Formats: sequence, structure tokens, C-alpha cells
Amino acid sequence: MTSEAPAECFVYITLPGQTEPVTAGRFALAVDRRGTPEGRFVYGRSYLERANAVALDPVELKLSPLTYATAALNGVFGALRDASPDYWGRRVIQRHLGKAQPGELEYLLYSPDDRAGALGFGLNQTPPAPKGSFNQTLDLAKMQAIADAIAADEELPADAAHEQVENLMLIGTSMGGARPKAVVEDEAGLWIAKFNRPDDTWNSARVEHAMLTLARACGLSTAESRVEGVAGRDVVLVKRFDRERTQAGYLRARMISALTLLRTEDTYQSRDKWSYVLLAEEVRRVCADPAQNAAELFRRMCFNALISNIDDHPRNHALIAKEAEWKLSPAYDLTPTVPVSMDRRDLAMECGDAGRFANADNLLSQSARFLLKPGHATAMIDAMEAQVRSTWYASARAAGVSERDCEAIARAFAYPGFRQSSEQAPSSRWHGGSTAPDCKPFRSFQATGARIGWSRPKTPSRF
Ligand SMILES: Nc1ncnc2c1ncn2[C@@H]1O[C@H](COP(=O)(O)OP(=O)(O)OP(=O)(O)O)[C@@H](O)[C@H]1O
Ligand SMILES: [Mg+2]
Repeated sequence: MTSEAPAECFVYITLPGQTEPVTAGRFALAVDRRGTPEGRFVYGRSYLERANAVALDPVELKLSPLTYATAALNGVFGALRDASPDYWGRRVIQRHLGKAQPGELEYLLYSPDDRAGALGFGLNQTPPAPKGSFNQTLDLAKMQAIADAIAADEELPADAAHEQVENLMLIGTSMGGARPKAVVEDEAGLWIAKFNRPDDTWNSARVEHAMLTLARACGLSTAESRVEGVAGRDVVLVKRFDRERTQAGYLRARMISALTLLRTEDTYQSRDKWSYVLLAEEVRRVCADPAQNAAELFRRMCFNALISNIDDHPRNHALIAKEAEWKLSPAYDLTPTVPVSMDRRDLAMECGDAGRFANADNLLSQSARFLLKPGHATAMIDAMEAQVRSTWYASARAAGVSERDCEAIARAFAYPGFRQSSEQAPSSRWHGGSTAPDCKPFRSFQATGARIGWSRPKTPSRF
């Protein structure tokens, strides 16, 4: 480990249909005289000459011999930032490096290569061979104990030697998100294991599994999931849709978040671009099947409103490309909340003329931008609402959610404000300023290493 932070690295990519990475280009990060970080990326000439070369980002980093430069996002291009650890991973890496504020390049280089998407990073011009082995589902109990200790900022358990932390907990740090997690393998492939936290208000693992099941019943395409009991606690395993196990190794899909597609950031100033309507426009522009993908996005927006998932920030939506063409990834990280207000709840992203109001009229107000005829959009909402009302409880019980936890989450589903006429609805206290009444802003990324966004009032805050 060096104390000097590196200033540049190579960016590798695993091309469609391949299991070994190749070098795509070079990324350099510098700070100018005024202290502003500037990132530069250039594709390698030999990469551009490949017949099967694909762009890292279909909008911001199109295939070209130009050198791209950015001062946004601390100089890290969105497609690279999406492959970088988020709150949870950064916390583990900080402990591993023994540094409070590692640089952005250190986060890229020290997070393991099981990151979301098809990219990798390294200091050698030639990429290393992909890692042959992953943690097995059998290791979950050990990982959970370490995750608990890190989440509680405690000393690690006595048997958790430094090496074990490195081997076990670093796996998964590059996956993003705030919740403790790890990546594990079984015969079907790779899974993200999301651990319950001791301070969870309900059994999050079982509730998340139930929401993915309910979403499928509402017609959404979702990640596959299951729950495993580990040392008396539950873990939800979400199958990775960006990896496919083959005889030769793992195929990898490219992945960019909606945050990148919207060219926005996790900052208050950027929140005016957090919008399903704007995202629909981008999805139509980039995806191979605009109508199908825009309709799927509309469904997700409505589903989030129907289960009061107000943590639907733009990192909880992504596009993937297994081959050359892009499409919406399966839905993931669907979590109900129970804000106090029964009249007005706001999603994290704008969803219609009345801003972020999770309300049927509002969702319908811009349905044309999702390429839906009004009658069709209305019918979709009506059918999803009926499905949520009539089956949320059965889905939850079938997923093993206890009677007590069902009671705790009951007020999340099809809340009264969903059907209130937009004119009658109480306006958000911060209306126009884009802050949800049911959310509290969380601390700044720069100050704490945490992401700027909106924490859930009842479920554990990311911080
Ligand atoms: N099934 C999946 N396959 C591939 N990548 C995934 C999958 N599920 C999630 N991801 C990626 O991992 C990241 C973290 O996952 P997730 O959003 O479930 O975690 P979280 O900690 O609950 O997030 P949050 O901070 O939003 O609460 C996502 O932002 C996404 O990039
Ligand atoms: Mg998430």
C-alpha cells in the first residue's frame, strides 16, 4: 500500500460475450491551481480499432479519439463513479486503508473487481486475469459478524484478522449503496447479500424480498431474490443481473446509473434534474426499444408511489447493456416506508406536473412522455393499485414477514394521498425547493464520506 495517491489509472472493460477484460483507456485525475479537480479520459488507440469496441457511457463517453475532460463529480466521469464504491464500500475501504479521506482514485483501485458493470481499474497497462473464486454463501455468517462490527464502528471480532476483512468484506464494497452487503457465489452465479442491521425497524431482508415479489406481480421486471437464515438472522440475496456464469467464466454487462444518465449529482443543487420525466426522455434516446423501456420506467415510478418507496433516488435505477444495446436493468432496492403524512408523500424524483407528489393524477400528468396513451396509463395504474391493495399482505407473509412487521409496514401501501385530487393535496412545505416533507436531508458527501440525498425516516438512515 502506498501513501502517495496515484494520479492516473487504466480502465479495463470486459467486452460483450467475453470473460477476460481488455484495456479500454486511461483515466487521469488532477487538481488545478484553484483546487478544482479535473478528470480526463481517453480511449486507447488499439481499443478504438477493435471491431467489437463499445462505449463506456453511451452519452458522455462515446467512442472517439478525443480526450474527454470533466470537473463535475470531483472529476470522476459518471460511468466510472458508478463502478466506484458508495457509502458502505467507502466505509470498509477507509478502515482497510486506515485513512479517513482516501482519494477518488484510491477508492477505484482498492475496491475489488466484482464491481457493478463491466469496468475494472488498475495501474498496469495490461489488465490482470479475472479472479477465479468468490466468497461462497457458506461464508455469510462470518461476513455478517464483520459487517455488524463495521456498521457499529466497533473493533472487529477476535477471529476476524486483517486478512479476513480484506478477503471477505472488501468483496462487495464496490457494489454501491449504503446498506451493509457482500457479494457471494453459489452454483447459479453471483448474488448481492444484503444484511439486516440491528437497528432495523422491521426485517428488511424479508420485506425487500417481498417487495421484489410484489413488483413482479405488478408486471415489473425485477432482480431475482431469496432469503437465507444466517446465524439466527435473515439475509436477502439478490441475484446479480450484470453477471452471467458460463463454463469459461463470468460474462459482464455494462451498467450506468440514472444519476449518470441524467448527468446530475448527489447534491442539493443538482436535485432539479432528479426526474422520472427527464429520465424517460434519456431512456427513449439511449435504449434500443424506447417504447418498452419508457413504459417499464412508468410502471416502476407508479409502483414506488404505491409502496411509498421514497428512497427511489437515481442510483436506484440503472441501464445495462449485455451486448451493444442498452435497456433498463431489472428493478432493485425496492423498500416501503411509512411516513407520518397520509395525505402527501413525495418520491425522491419528480414524477409529474405536481413535482414529486406520489399521486395518481400527478403520475398521469406526463404519461405521454413515457410514450403511453392516457387510457393505457390509467389502466396500468388502476391494475397496479388493485394488485398492491389486494396482495401486498399475502406477498409479505409468503416471504416470511411476521404479522408484527406487516402491521408496521401496512400504511406504506396505496396510502390515501395516492388518490387525492392534486388540487386538494397539501403542498409540500418546501414545494418548489424540492425537499420532501417526509424526508430529512442528510449530511454532505464531502464532509462525511456519505452521500447527499434523503434518508428514510423509519428505516435506518444510511448514516
Ligand atoms: N441485482 C443486482 N445486480 C447488479 N447490480 C445491482 C443489483 N442490485 C443492486 N445493484 C447495484 O448495487 C448498488 C447497491 O445496491 P442496493 O441499491 O440494493 O443497495 P442499498 O445499500 O440498499 O442502496 P441505498 O443506498 O440506495 O439504500 C445499486 O445502486 C446498483 O448499482
Ligand atoms: Mg440503493
